[in-house]
Amino acid sequence: MSASSGARCLDCPSWHKLAAALFMIAALNAAPALTASRNPACPTAFWNFGDSLTDTGGSLNVFPWFTDPERSPYGESFFGRPAKRYCNGRVVPDFFSLAFKFPLLQPYIQAGAFDYNYGANFASGGTTASNDTFVNPIFLKFQVTEYVRLKQSAISEKGQLTCLPFKQFLPLDDSYAEGLYSVEIGGNDIINAILFENKSAVQVLTQVIPAAMINILDSIKILTSNGAKKFIIFNLPNAGCSTIVITVLGPIPGVQKDAMGCVVLINQLDQAYNKALNDTITTARLLYPGRTFSIFNYYAANLEILTNPSLYGFNPALTKRACCGAPGVGTLNYNPLITCGKAGSNKCANPDEYVNWDGVHFTEAFYRQIALWALAGKFTDNPVNYTSLCNLDFQNFAKSATYNSVYPQSCRVTFTS
Ligand SMILES: *[C@@H]1O[C@H](CO)[C@@H](O)[C@H](O)[C@H]1NC(C)=O
Ligand SMILES: *[C@@H]1O[C@H](CO)[C@@H](O)[C@H](O)[C@H]1NC(C)=O
Ligand SMILES: *[C@@H]1O[C@H](CO)[C@@H](O)[C@H](O)[C@H]1NC(C)=O
Ligand SMILES: *[C@@H]1O[C@H](CO)[C@@H](O)[C@H](O)[C@H]1NC(C)=O
Repeated sequence: MSASSGARCLDCPSWHKLAAALFMIAALNAAPALTASRNPACPTAFWNFGDSLTDTGGSLNVFPWFTDPERSPYGESFFGRPAKRYCNGRVVPDFFSLAFKFPLLQPYIQAGAFDYNYGANFASGGTTASNDTFVNPIFLKFQVTEYVRLKQSAISEKGQLTCLPFKQFLPLDDSYAEGLYSVEIGGNDIINAILFENKSAVQVLTQVIPAAMINILDSIKILTSNGAKKFIIFNLPNAGCSTIVITVLGPIPGVQKDAMGCVVLINQLDQAYNKALNDTITTARLLYPGRTFSIFNYYAANLEILTNPSLYGFNPALTKRACCGAPGVGTLNYNPLITCGKAGSNKCANPDEYVNWDGVHFTEAFYRQIALWALAGKFTDNPVNYTSLCNLDFQNFAKSATYNSVYPQSCRVTFTS
């Protein structure tokens, strides 16, 4: 390598790394037989767009003020320490990666070494499908635009000889066309509008949801024009049954609650969003034929867990209660001033019995069940049964699995402490 080519590449690798990279490339080239036997329905990568339910570091790598998940006890159930996820352990994209025996999906903005062979995660906590930037500016179309940037940059780097040592960490060539594009967003459109922005239900129905749908259809257009063929779109779970909504809205005079104690208005708005999403995806199927658009009915899945908790290992007495939080407001261990991870908060003894982790987000145990259903095509409109088609392996879904046991040599997850 000449001095001039070295100067063009500021963080040039040493020669032993280059040799390792060449070896890796040779090894990859030597394994076409494996890829040839792949069922065409099975993804070779994951591209995820979403909010805190699927964030694997996107917000914490960018915004240092979203602090709770940087603190213990976040992450402890699988990672053993905070892993930039809004959960006690794994979230749905983590379970997807584990089932496919891929490395865990990395956030697009990675604070440290990156590796996008198997795709990237653009999800960021607090984001919306519409261009509501009240909490976090990285709304859905922004995320999709970042995907386009990553793809363009990666293709450009692959075309530059001096970048050879980094090529092994770029998305594999078929990952754009053969990847699974998952979209999990929209809950914040409704929660932000009602809880933080004092918008009326009518405004949500006539402005917020239509704006969200325009952006979703636009995002699908951008992704399909970039080669995307496989989509799984998660609709909204019933946030009217979440700890934060029951605690904050529940006691307000005139707020109607159902037989389960859930706030009716929020569930109705979630269902209105889900109905609009059905219509939007129907349109997408007509506009972009030849692609697969599955809709996972998160609402129905969440309701099934709340209705029959013990069937899935949850404690029926604890389905609305936050595992991690603090008393002082209401009876569900959620205090908006002393949230999970802050001084004075507590953590339950067995998070696996709980649906809700920190008042706002779900537990790892809940996400495990959601991932099992989504991969098997259950609660899904236009389902693909990845479980049967792709020979999935659920061994690493076990509660006893740990990050170090599953990925002993990996540094693909960055921790906060
Ligand atoms: C959101 O989109 C609407 C309609 O296109 C536009 O009027 C508004 O300025 C946008 N807001 C932001 C914050 O980009
Ligand atoms: C919220 O909106 C209602 C009705 O539009 C209005 O009467 C009320 O003052 C608003 N509250 C706040 C805190 O802005
Ligand atoms: C969306 O469509 C699915 C499949 O047809 C249906 O089961 C579900 O009830 C619909 N959701 C709403 C809110 O209409
Ligand atoms: C998907 O396939 C698995 C394994 O063959 C099977 O157990 C499951 O019932 C299938 N899912 C659906 C929704 O039929």
